[in-house]
Amino acid sequence: MLETSPDAPNPAAVVVLAAGEGRRMRSSKLKVLHEIGGRPLLGHAVHAAAALAPEHLVVVAGHGRETVRDYLSGLATELSRSTLLAIQEQQLGTGHAVACAMDSLPALTGPVMVTYGDVPLLDSGTLRGLLTEHAVAGNAVTVLTAELPDATGYGRILRDQDGAVTAIVEQRDATPEQLAIREFNSGVYVFEADVLRDGLTRLADAAPSNAQGELYLTDVLGMAHQDGRRVGALRCPDPWLVAGVNDQLQLSQIRAELNRRLLGAWMRAGVTVVDPSNTWVDVGVRLAPDVLLHPGTQLHGATTVSEGAQIGPDTTLTDCWIGQGATVVRTHGTGAEIGAGANVGPFAYLRPGARLGDHGKIGTFVEVKNAEIGRGTKVPHLTYVGDATIGEGSNIGASSVFVNYDGVTKNRTTIGSYVKTGSDNTFVAPVTIGDGAYSGAGTVVRNDVPPGALAVSAGEQRNIEGWVMRRRAGTPSALAAEQAIEKANTEQSSSTAGAPEQVLSDGPSDTVGAPTAPRGGNDLG
Ligand code: UD1
Ligand code: CA
Repeated sequence: MLETSPDAPNPAAVVVLAAGEGRRMRSSKLKVLHEIGGRPLLGHAVHAAAALAPEHLVVVAGHGRETVRDYLSGLATELSRSTLLAIQEQQLGTGHAVACAMDSLPALTGPVMVTYGDVPLLDSGTLRGLLTEHAVAGNAVTVLTAELPDATGYGRILRDQDGAVTAIVEQRDATPEQLAIREFNSGVYVFEADVLRDGLTRLADAAPSNAQGELYLTDVLGMAHQDGRRVGALRCPDPWLVAGVNDQLQLSQIRAELNRRLLGAWMRAGVTVVDPSNTWVDVGVRLAPDVLLHPGTQLHGATTVSEGAQIGPDTTLTDCWIGQGATVVRTHGTGAEIGAGANVGPFAYLRPGARLGDHGKIGTFVEVKNAEIGRGTKVPHLTYVGDATIGEGSNIGASSVFVNYDGVTKNRTTIGSYVKTGSDNTFVAPVTIGDGAYSGAGTVVRNDVPPGALAVSAGEQRNIEGWVMRRRAGTPSALAAEQAIEKANTEQSSSTAGAPEQVLSDGPSDTVGAPTAPRGGNDLG
């Protein structure tokens, strides 16, 4: 970031050029709408421009103008300001594009800034530095430049023997000596409004004389110099800031650089990132000190992680809120809220409206949607919770299903506090279970359960003795059963031999240990 000045003037306008097709992306999606850090390239450019509080903010679009219009109308809420859209019917060059923007604006005085919609890392601090330089030097035109050992493709900055900027020459129009110049035009400028309007009119009146037959904005800078106006340049020490996206490879490189910078800032703010090369955060993510991000973590949208929480490994969260000291392991989540000290995963799926109270648990292979799970309540294993409200301190047995959908409408299940439901329960919504109630294993809860009741729906177990030996004779199961019975008989007769007075209750066909009521069976841990 270049030096910023608190008294940099607000620009009269910022013009963001985005009319190009971006054919080298080889994508059906418009180039400037490809995203990095969870925001389209154009969004990065417009955010940086908006931070300068210009009187007018204009985006020039041509290709894909309807998608650009839709995107900008959504952005208005995000920025709480409006953006104008100027249409450039045909892409006749950068000078023509800026002329289209100026034609859509009233008469202006003061500085007008031009930036590109496909240069996403350029930050508002650098832009403010350019405005300050322009004002302090009293320039008519100030161009942001950078240097690369090989500036192939860019327009080169020409200076006279005193170092004053005289013109910009494009790659295709340059002599071999000019091509050796390392200082290049970033495409970002500040113009005094009158110099810009005058230059653009003269540009349009003269036939283009360059190799591409386009109206070059760069020529306005040359004209100003020839007219004896002050033209200056500000060197940007960090070429990444002015790097543009032209193809998918550059998109991935600039995305990785943005991510490195975002993670760098979070680490400086006290976040532990175990493997920055394998951790991704969007620009809208907020992380507190002592958050720990394990490898394979992707945090998207407006995800917020509170102090001391641990995320990952292998976790993707979008628009989630994670409370202090919570752990979220191998989880995929969208629009969920996880309370302080709560545990999620491994292998949990959090869908919109999942809310877990402090110190609660959403365990392994558990899916939660539109459900509020109270403080300290645990849903530990293999369960679907959809459209439900569960109170505090309850426990949902393993392998349970909240049957929220009757094929037509979604219905809600309400479970009170300190409820213990058995394993393999189905809650057929709409249904309510009162505080402190229990349910047996395998219960299908179709009717409301009053507080403190034990709900049981499974019939009593019936064992048909010898069924496998008769109906599956000769199978490994039958053989194993025969051996087990024989062993039991042998042990029985040897122990009865030493204790003849012991009486067997009901003979060998008795069902050993069958409880009269089903057990809770929700205690897998
Ligand atoms: C331009 C500059 C060059 C500079 C380079 C930096 C000119 C003549 N040249 O070259 O000095 O080094 O940018 O990247 O300005 N655009 C429109 N409408 C048009 C043409 C372009 O909106 O008619 C937009 C494009 O969408 C793009 C930007 O302007 O965002 C730059 O256009 P591009 O064609 O890439 O310019 P270059 O030839 O690379
Ligand atoms: Ca370009």
